[in-house]
This record gives sequence, C-alpha cells and structure tokens, in this order.
Amino acid sequence: MENFIMHNPTTLHFGRSVVEKLAPIASSYGRRVLLVYGKGSAKRSGAYVDVLRQLKNINAEVFEFSGIQSNPLIEDVDAAAQLGREKQVDMIIAIGGGSVIDSAKAISITMPVIHSGWVFYAGKAKPSKAIPLIAVLTLAATGSEMNQFSVVQNHAAGMKNGFGHPLMYPVHSFLDPSYTLSVPRDYTAFGIADLMAHCLENYFGLGHAPLTDHFIFSILTEALEAGPQLLNDLDNYDLRARIMYAATMALNGLTTFGKGMGDWGVHSIGHHLSLLYGLPHGATLTVMYPAWMKLYQSALEPQLLKLGKHLFGLEDAGETIQRLESFFISIGCPVRITNSLPEGIDPKPLIDLMIRNRAGGNHYKFSPLQLEKLIDLAQI
Ligand code: NZQ
Ligand code: ZN
Repeated sequence: MENFIMHNPTTLHFGRSVVEKLAPIASSYGRRVLLVYGKGSAKRSGAYVDVLRQLKNINAEVFEFSGIQSNPLIEDVDAAAQLGREKQVDMIIAIGGGSVIDSAKAISITMPVIHSGWVFYAGKAKPSKAIPLIAVLTLAATGSEMNQFSVVQNHAAGMKNGFGHPLMYPVHSFLDPSYTLSVPRDYTAFGIADLMAHCLENYFGLGHAPLTDHFIFSILTEALEAGPQLLNDLDNYDLRARIMYAATMALNGLTTFGKGMGDWGVHSIGHHLSLLYGLPHGATLTVMYPAWMKLYQSALEPQLLKLGKHLFGLEDAGETIQRLESFFISIGCPVRITNSLPEGIDPKPLIDLMIRNRAGGNHYKFSPLQLEKLIDLAQI
C-alpha cells in the first residue's frame, strides 16, 4: 500500500433544505458576496431563490456573475475575478454543477493575483491565497463540491486543463438532492457515467489497497443499481440523493487512499473531445472508456477480472468490458463518437492536438499509433 494523507477540509451539508443553514456560515466570512452561476438552471432548480433569501437575512451585498458555460472558459473566470476584485468581495458562492464550481475555484485563486487564471492551469504558477468558496450543488456528477480540482478550457491555447491545489477546496458545500430534480435525463445519465469513470480512473491506477478497491466497487454497485432506477423515476428524491452521495464519494479522496495516483488517461482524451466538439464531459467518458479498456485489455486483464467478478459475477475480462458498455447504452449514453456526432470526425486534427498536448494517463501512456487505434475503436 502507498503512503497517504487523509485530509478533506470541506464541510459538507447534505439533505433536504440544508441551504437554510447558509446565512450564519456566510456571515462568518463577511458581507460582500460574488455569486456565480450558469445559464439559468440555478433559478429553475430553486437554489438561487433560497440562497438569495439567506443572503438577505445577513444584509449581504451581492454581485452576480452569471452565464458560466458547460465546459467552462478561462475568459469568464478572468472577467469574474476582475469583478470580484473591483467589488472587494469577501467570499464566492457558486450555484451549479461542476462547470460553475470549477470556475468559482479558478476565480477564487485568480482574484488575489494580477494575471490571468490560466497561468495556474498551464502549470506556470501556484496560488498562495484563495478567496473562500461556498458551493451549492445542483448536479450530481463531478465531485467538485468536495475536492481541490478544477478544469477549465482555453480555446486560444487549444487546451482543457485540470489544476488542483489544497487552497481550492470549497470551505462549505451544500448538497440538497431536491435541487437536482430538474436535471434532465441526459445530464442525469452523464453524471452517473462521470461518477463511475472517477471510480474507474482510480481503480486502474497503480498501488495495492484492497479496502479502497472495495469502496470503489461499492460506489460502482450503487451507480449500477440506483442509476437505472433514477432514470425511470427522475422525480424521486431518494434516488437523486443516492446518486448525489455516490458522486461526491467517487472523487473526494475515498477512492484514492493507499492506491497512489489514478490513471486519468480516459479523462485526458475526453477533455479533447469536449474542447474540439463541445461534447458534454460524461458523454466523452462513455465513448472513450470502452475503447480504452479494449486497447489495453491484456495489460488490464487481472484488474478487469476482479472488477467483473465484483460488479457482475463474471469471470471474463472481455465480457466485463461488454457489460460496462451495455450499461452505458442502457442509460442512454453514447458509446461511439458517431452516437453523438453522426457524421463522424476527421481523426487527424484530434490526434495532432492530443500529441501536442501530451494526452495520456499517469500510467497508461499513448504512442501516436495507440492514439490512432483508440480513436478507431471509439468510431466504429
Ligand atoms: O448552465 P446551467 O443553466 O447551469 O445548466 C447546466 C448545464 O447546461 C445544467 N444544470 C446544472 N444543474 C441543473 C442543470 N439543469 C437543470 N437542473 C439543474 N439542477 O447542466 C448542464 C451541465 O452542467 P455542468 O456544470 O457543465 O456539468 P457537470 O457537473 O458535469 O460539470 C462538467 C465540468 O466539470 C469538469 C468537466 O471537465 C466539465 O468541464 N470536471 C470537474 C472535475 C472536478 N472539479 O473534480 C472532475 C471531472 O472529471 C470533470 O473533469
Ligand atoms: Zn469526470
């Protein structure tokens, strides 16, 4: 087993109406708030009204930055950080899914500096200060609500990069599953796929920690069980709660302890599909995971056998890949690029960009030939 530190400073408030506890917590950070949200779902879900009511109770001054887009942009981060600086806010409150919370994390480390936030994501600097961030989650998927990571797109640089730093954990996160009742079927399924992919990225990392593998199998089993039930009953609070809890646990450290680094090669490829073709994050993963497992099937054989046994009672690596692929199909996710982009893609620009950006996992790297094969497997 690898050495590890277990420390997660985010205080998680989970359940019905937990946002009613936001006012005293927010007031402990000050009264000036930068409120960050997306294109309208914050209002539709009811979260926006509830948060504003809380902020009114403490006579907070609220400055809004809305319109954060899915697969968020560095330009929005920099503009919001500028607003936060001008208004000298004491805290940031993010209402939304991973894109909004990731942007808010980026804003929180960009506000104290004079350069673009991209400098952090390009690996050219580390933050030394962050504005406190409170997250109100409206979509179960990324785990951003309880981790230190954030992913941002920069079209000018041709990159979608992740960055993580201990200063980027939200100080408090409010998870009321009822805010996710308005998430449409497709994004509900993409969220289920994303949480499963976080388990798989960590499972296929190196390191031997059987207890952590059991945590991973449990979270995957929960997704396999509750996911389809939820997709047949989108208004069911308990099923929304089960998936929300699973998604947070899939990427808050629990699936990593003692295992060393996860692989994250599938995410790396997926980010390029989002960057070039605008595909939703979860959809990129259901397209690339089956292809990746097929590409590396012989190297992954022992781990695939163990996974198949625990999840499906199978004893065959190839069948395990098939079962996961069939599951993604059953919840309505694409498993080939052409399911999302019927005309297909020209692989060359994609492969060139991935080579330039050194796309690949921490353990499973890709030669140019392997990238070609991978994209082939994802197209046919
Ligand atoms: O823009 P709005 O109106 O808010 O609509 C959003 C968006 O269109 C909508 N939505 C959110 N809550 C809703 C809702 N619609 C109805 N009712 C609600 N309650 O859903 C759409 C997708 O939202 P988005 O935040 O983009 O989705 P997700 O949570 O999947 O986040 C994806 C981003 O997170 C990154 C991804 O790369 C991607 O950029 N990731 C972040 C990670 C992290 N911080 O740890 C790890 C992940 O692997 C991932 O890379
Ligand atoms: Zn993900």
